[in-house]
Amino acid sequence: MEAAPPNFHFHDLQPAPEDFHTDVIAGLSRQTKRLSPKFFYDELGSQLFDAITRLPEYYPTRTEIGLLHRYGEDMARMLGNDGLLFELGSGSGTKIRVLLEAIQPQTYAPIDISRETLSMSAGAIAQDHPKLEVHAICTDYSKPLELSGFFDVQQRAVFFPGSSIGNFDPTQARDLLQRIAKLLGPDGRLLIGVDLKKAPALLHAAYNDNQGVTAKFNQNLLTRINRELDADFDVAAFRHEAFYNEKLGRVEMHLFATAPQHVRIDGCCFEFQAGESIHTENSYKFSIEEFQTLAAQAGLASLRVWQDDDALFSVHCLRPI
Ligand code: AVI
Repeated sequence: MEAAPPNFHFHDLQPAPEDFHTDVIAGLSRQTKRLSPKFFYDELGSQLFDAITRLPEYYPTRTEIGLLHRYGEDMARMLGNDGLLFELGSGSGTKIRVLLEAIQPQTYAPIDISRETLSMSAGAIAQDHPKLEVHAICTDYSKPLELSGFFDVQQRAVFFPGSSIGNFDPTQARDLLQRIAKLLGPDGRLLIGVDLKKAPALLHAAYNDNQGVTAKFNQNLLTRINRELDADFDVAAFRHEAFYNEKLGRVEMHLFATAPQHVRIDGCCFEFQAGESIHTENSYKFSIEEFQTLAAQAGLASLRVWQDDDALFSVHCLRPI
């Protein structure tokens, strides 16, 4: 293995395995069974998500990257440079690479829950940008971030791409945005990708792709539970389905049991009726105004919004009020 470059630092604050165990047992004990989408991203899950981002039906990633290419200079001007740039859910690092030349921060701090993906992608960025200090932080950013001791740089920006904010229910999304506002300090800037409301048929195709990659991504959550929590889900007996819930403005992903099942997880037993669902993800879609209202409730004011010509996706620059 190659030695890490001197400008690369790794901070491992990954949640303990007990957190996964506790969340899974609690989620499956509810009347309507639920699992948190943050657990999709083990090593295979991260690879499958990467494959999703390249699917012809999955418009968000290529549309957002198109916006970063087209308006990157503009975005960099609004963020300011020379400071500390956090990225929430940095994944493969593809998006920040588009912006790094334009922003030129002193320090880049990618945050991700998936240790392997983070270490590889952030290490490669450090290698390619020897003057950039890279502090990769492996943690669950949906929980309060305790980063005060890490950095004393004044000028701060947060990049939160991919419309991952849409994977949080409105109250959680507001709380997370509030925590981001606190992290930014009075002069900081948030650059955030937000998926827009659109024809349900386009959403349906994006979350039920023809090659079945999204289905594998969804089912992999059960495979992970089998492996890490000593469980015995018959994974093939759960069918992936995603649909747009127009009333709530969100795509819902579910795994439906195709036959009755009795599942054992580390000594606990769970019964599934045929047709019963495990709700695994929500992906909220917004109008520009809906997102600005949510952000304002979290103490963030809109400075600028960019969107593509087909109004599929938006990128917002915000500042603490
Ligand atoms: C990461 N997140 C923004 C994706 C989304 O579109 O909600 C996760 C995803 N789920 C299915 N396809 C992609």
